[in-house]
Amino acid sequence: MFDTQNEIPIASDHGGFEMKEYLKKVLTEEGFNLKDMGTDSEKSVDYPDLIHPLAKAVNDGKYELGIILCGSGNGAQMTANKYPKVRAALCWTAEQAKLAREHNNANIISLPGRFIDFKEAAEMVKIFLRTDFEGGRHERRVNK
Ligand code: RB5
Repeated sequence: MFDTQNEIPIASDHGGFEMKEYLKKVLTEEGFNLKDMGTDSEKSVDYPDLIHPLAKAVNDGKYELGIILCGSGNGAQMTANKYPKVRAALCWTAEQAKLAREHNNANIISLPGRFIDFKEAAEMVKIFLRTDFEGGRHERRVNK
């Protein structure tokens, strides 16, 4: 089980900024220990500039799990998945967030900041952080 006291990095571009700020507030109130890796305003930025540092840190083992956002969630996810030890899952529903951990051992959740409800996004992240990988047949598949 992931220790939810561990530091959890979160990063977004401008398209995910507002949702990132909401998640930081809600999850910190719940006792999670979030490390904000930017961006710090709604000013337009290039998502790879924000996502690479977080994905590299997860890839290097500095963090176990991470949260990334952009407008669609796609650019952030594609950037993070350039790293061999990163398994970033783009999630639109709570069930997808759960399955991303249980079946895919995802270590980063990517959220579409402009397309889903903020409260739903917070629930998805909580589920993602509190769900374990099932292993077994899924481990075989992940390793392949
Ligand atoms: C920025 O406008 C937008 O392209 C970005 O947030 C993201 O959706 C890219 O995949």
